[in-house]
Amino acid sequence: MSYETILVETRGPVGLITLNRPKALNALCDQLVTELGQALDGFEADSAIGAIVITGSERAFAAGADIKEMAGFTYMDVYTSNFITAKWEQLAKCRKPTIAAVAGFALGGGCELAMMADFILAADTAKFGQPEITIGTIPGAGGTQRLTRFVGKSKAMEMVLTGRMIDAAEAERCGLVSRVVPAAELIEEAVKVATKIASLSQPIVAMAKEAVNAAYETTLAEGVHFERRVFHSTFATEDQKEGMAAFAEKRQPVWKNR
Ligand code: CAA
Repeated sequence: MSYETILVETRGPVGLITLNRPKALNALCDQLVTELGQALDGFEADSAIGAIVITGSERAFAAGADIKEMAGFTYMDVYTSNFITAKWEQLAKCRKPTIAAVAGFALGGGCELAMMADFILAADTAKFGQPEITIGTIPGAGGTQRLTRFVGKSKAMEMVLTGRMIDAAEAERCGLVSRVVPAAELIEEAVKVATKIASLSQPIVAMAKEAVNAAYETTLAEGVHFERRVFHSTFATEDQKEGMAAFAEKRQPVWKNR
């Protein structure tokens, strides 16, 4: 498949998607979001791919939804098309592990998109923000909800009400990103982490991801109950037998993805 707004490649077992609208700082126009969804579908269907990295340019991961595209939308336009559409949520619904590798601006929808990945690795140049309030709207792709879960009410409220950007160090301090790395090493490090994940049992990784995600949707008691059920179900897999046998036999496991 050929794309105009993203670059899609594989690095061994890792699918790498690069947002590529440099003139618009990777603003997330409808075409880009559609193409991103198609690329994610392709990687989801490819059993050789064990993890997916989404990145942007050195200057911008993405500077938000495309303001020029949406400026003239009416209430009926956005209501009837359910804008921001389900297409945006595709990353959050992806079953394979996903990493957002963020350098430069991740603003508005760009920050929201990064938060839909399983975790964010940030370059030391990264800047995160929800500046929608400064252009007369509010976050519309989950920002008020996911940012609050990541960083807590006080900081999320300050960011959403003022539009203040935070740098990579502050983003790490408040738990928005898992780690900060030098900008020049961002892609290499993200692919390395993704390769590590892809080298593990794919069904067990999917179960672990599902269990962590449950923490966002449920009470503690329900989440712990769900985790226990998923933990029990790992014992129905050949990979649990292989993993524990390999440990006892002091050798590397050979995963069957079953
Ligand atoms: N939509 C469309 N175009 C954008 C854009 C966006 N979100 N962000 C940047 N661009 C375009 C600029 O219009 C400019 O294009 P031209 O050269 O044709 O004028 C180009 O990208 C470069 O941008 P700047 O000249 O502004 O670059 P800068 O370095 O001076 O500033 C910036 C960088 C601070 C990121 C600034 O571009 C900016 O504030 N962008 C908008 C950020 C924003 O408000 N994002 C939220 C969008 S709303 C949203 O996302 C809703 C939602 O929840 C889904």
